[in-house]
Amino acid sequence: MIRSVLTGTGAALPARRVSNAELAQQVDTTDEWIVERTGIRFRYIAGPDETTATLAADASKAALAAAGVLAADVDLIVLATATPDQTFPSSATKVQALLGIADCVAFDVAAVCSGFLYAVQVADAMLRAGVHRRALVIGSETFSRILDWEDRATCVLFGDGAGAIVLEARESADAAGPGILATKLHADGRHNDLLYVDGGPSTTGTVGKLRMKGREVFRHAVVNLAAVMEEGLQLAGLTAAEVDWVVPHQANARILDATARKLGLPPEKVVVTVDQHANTSAASVPLALDTAMRDGRINAGQIVVLEAMGGGFTWGAAVLRT
Ligand code: COA
Repeated sequence: MIRSVLTGTGAALPARRVSNAELAQQVDTTDEWIVERTGIRFRYIAGPDETTATLAADASKAALAAAGVLAADVDLIVLATATPDQTFPSSATKVQALLGIADCVAFDVAAVCSGFLYAVQVADAMLRAGVHRRALVIGSETFSRILDWEDRATCVLFGDGAGAIVLEARESADAAGPGILATKLHADGRHNDLLYVDGGPSTTGTVGKLRMKGREVFRHAVVNLAAVMEEGLQLAGLTAAEVDWVVPHQANARILDATARKLGLPPEKVVVTVDQHANTSAASVPLALDTAMRDGRINAGQIVVLEAMGGGFTWGAAVLRT
């Protein structure tokens, strides 16, 4: 049996951290409103030299160092992003060049906030098929570039950043060993108008700005996330009681609380970084995972559930043993 084993994580954030109070000097909002409605206190905003690809490369270097893997030994890069450096080529190929990898397979996946879960399933399938041995799976975003800074209902919610993991194909006969145990993805394209960007190469010819009907997204998020986590656990042959950690997409503290409650999971098992990073879309799950791996909360042999939902709608979960 081949399993994809998580051997390292890394993260990268822009140099500039912006508090709610600082934001309130430019936008008609308050620290109280943002904290009460979302739990967000800070977000990082990329400077002109910080892009989705440079943040992704920095996060990847940290993940490779943690895994003890040389860049030259990576044979697959899957990068989840909705904010690529260019329309083409993929930001994954830019990361490949920044890491100095002479040859590998490199491509982007687009599933917005659930992009990292999509990237994990794609990489896991390619590793288990025996086609690749060592994958960098990255979520990286610069949402600050597609925010309408005149729209206070959206611009206060998002931030920039990147997270990366190294997945390695390992042959093992031990069912209780480490690795990705199950993944489950969904998409429902009927909900395009609830969360979208009002531009694109094939429509307006512009990049466009993010538009969202927040209340309706909220309603779908709690139902979909609780359901897909249950599906993932069932595929892995586990129950919610056996979960050590949930590492959710960090959109809103109230969504995290409501989802954990629905599954009967105590809040202490949920990794929360939304207060520090805001919603970093595809980067949020690997950023939170890296935080909890490095601060010693997540240890070897534990059951970890990753979950996310985003524009499309798309949503998914992954269950792994560290
Ligand atoms: N500061 C102050 N007031 C604000 C504000 C801000 N940044 N943004 C909106 N408001 C105001 C609105 O104008 C509205 O005022 P009104 O009642 O006078 O019209 C009021 O706050 C309520 O707005 P509403 O949008 O109904 O608030 P809400 O309780 O639904 O909270 C969100 C808004 C966005 C925080 C919430 O809907 C949410 O988190 N949705 C999910 C979003 C999400 O997670 N998206 C990403 C998924 S990947």
